[in-house]
Amino acid sequence: MCRRRCDIAKTMLEGKHIILGITGSIAAYKAAVLCRLLVRAGAEVRVLMTPVAKRFITPLTMATLSKNPVFTEFFDPENGAWNSHVSLGEWADCLLIAPATANTMAKMAGGIADNLLLTTYLSARSQTVVAPAMDLDMYAHPATQSAMDVLRSRGVKFIEPAEGELASGLSGKGRMAEPEDIVAFVDELLTEKKKSLTGLRFMVTAGATEEPIDPVRFVTNRSTGKMGCAIADELLARGGQVTIVCGRTNVELPAGAEVVEALSAEQMYRAAAAAFERADAGIMCAAVADYAPAEVADTKIKKHDGEMLLRMRRTPDIAASLGAVKGSRLLVGFALETDSEMDNARGKLERKNLDFIVLNSLRDKGAGFGTDTNKITLLDRSSAESLPLMSKRDAAKAIVDKIEKLITAQGDASTALGR
Ligand code: CTP
Repeated sequence: MCRRRCDIAKTMLEGKHIILGITGSIAAYKAAVLCRLLVRAGAEVRVLMTPVAKRFITPLTMATLSKNPVFTEFFDPENGAWNSHVSLGEWADCLLIAPATANTMAKMAGGIADNLLLTTYLSARSQTVVAPAMDLDMYAHPATQSAMDVLRSRGVKFIEPAEGELASGLSGKGRMAEPEDIVAFVDELLTEKKKSLTGLRFMVTAGATEEPIDPVRFVTNRSTGKMGCAIADELLARGGQVTIVCGRTNVELPAGAEVVEALSAEQMYRAAAAAFERADAGIMCAAVADYAPAEVADTKIKKHDGEMLLRMRRTPDIAASLGAVKGSRLLVGFALETDSEMDNARGKLERKNLDFIVLNSLRDKGAGFGTDTNKITLLDRSSAESLPLMSKRDAAKAIVDKIEKLITAQGDASTALGR
């Protein structure tokens, strides 16, 4: 599991005022756990529900968990008491909408104000955080994506939905992020800790590429994406902005990272080059196919007697291409070797113009694909540091320590030169 885990400390959100907005999604049941975690972290929580949300979870549940009355209407029908969206908006340090439906996000982007949650959003001066939840096709629809782009450009922060099984029975991206991750996200946002990598952008490639042979088959490798995700997690934890360009992975991708899916080496090359243009550093963790089938059949290849020959063509070397144009940006590569490890890794360091390379050998027990551990050597032009067997998380920390050291040294050097 790669998702950022957070131990909810009692004082994490001490004294913070959070409006928890719940909209009409099946994921509303998770809002109960989320509310409880926010309260446990020390926040004062007021819950706002859209009319449809009340069909998924009761105001009584949310009032009990938040220890405050729940607001659903503009005024109390019993006594006419006005629920002021303006004062609610002023009270809040954060308006957290979780789950957020496509409908609510579209209305927010369009300035529609037909319920108390939407009027509160429009009048709130606090940070708005949105955790979308919906069916994968609704999430991927251009209407939803452009509403999110509009909101992003207005400063709304999104907690990306996870991939997985959806209420519709389909599987894909749309499942609301887990409550623990949402609390960690809000905590990071509200506690303005100055983190060591704040303001820096990173591009991480992760996972295995898939090179199609025909509509049902492809060539791939054993990479799971664990190491790439662990690095992305660590960069995020230190305040970096991260774009993960990912092939096939079987781990959950870190909440808070921008994810660009790129299955083939060609697609990964294009996506990585685009993301690297905006980045301060690139970490090339993906296991990229060096060869892809020269022809991809449009229809399923049928079996025949005798042998079958698959002609392969070279794919672009992404790391080497980025190395050729990197300038002062940092570029880190990986080398997974089975023999002549040091020589091979040194060759790659030079050929691809990397700043350092992370070497792991399949001869080391506990290193390589799918394991939770790794045994790495950090190799640059003047040093080689061999680390003991450790968790991939600790290996990621060591790699990011080195990245941070090089970035700091670069910064110091440019300051000394008056750049
Ligand atoms: N890499 C890449 N694009 C490729 C192949 C590799 O970006 N087409 C990157 C990997 O992500 C890794 C580094 O280059 O950071 C080394 O990858 P590796 O597969 O070990 O080396 P190759 O260059 O493919 O060389 P070989 O297969 O001969 O070992």
